Amino acid sequence: MKIILIGFMGSGKSSVANRLNQILQFPVLEMDEIVFQKTSTKSMHEVFSKGGETLLRETEIKILREYAQIDNTIISTGGGVVLNKMIIDDLKHPNSKIFFLNASFETIKSRLVDDSSRPLFENKIEAESLYLFRLPLYLKYADHIVEVDNKSVEEIAQEIFAYCLKG
Ligand code: S3P
Repeated sequence: MKIILIGFMGSGKSSVANRLNQILQFPVLEMDEIVFQKTSTKSMHEVFSKGGETLLRETEIKILREYAQIDNTIISTGGGVVLNKMIIDDLKHPNSKIFFLNASFETIKSRLVDDSSRPLFENKIEAESLYLFRLPLYLKYADHIVEVDNKSVEEIAQEIFAYCLKG
């Protein structure tokens, strides 16, 4: 089984992926990290200054093509994967479960208040529009929606684990 975590920046995908890794012993594929490797960069700002958002999206497509056949993995996606139908088609697979970590914009804003690592979260007004634009896409592509406001990483990971056990 492949567990795919989708959701907006700051929704907790990486933390939950790491906890699931301890529970399930499946490796974690952290998409942003692989983007850095593939583009020889060290930060998202560097990716954007090298090739703009286009470089990020093209690299995301390549990565998911490459990893499409790999099973028993947890994929912590970048928040923008839902923008690309080609990526979603690669992710949607009989053996994959897509979990949307649904955080309110208020929660996200409070978590990312001191974070300067994300180029698309620099302007909070634009970030909120992006959030509202993407919300229906996350909802549409999810096999299961996990409400994450006021829940611990442990609670979220256990909810996903329980869902996976049900088959
Ligand atoms: C992005 C989300 C980021 C990263 C990039 C763009 C987005 O990943 O891929 O800054 O478009 O939402 P996280 O969701 O892991 O922060």
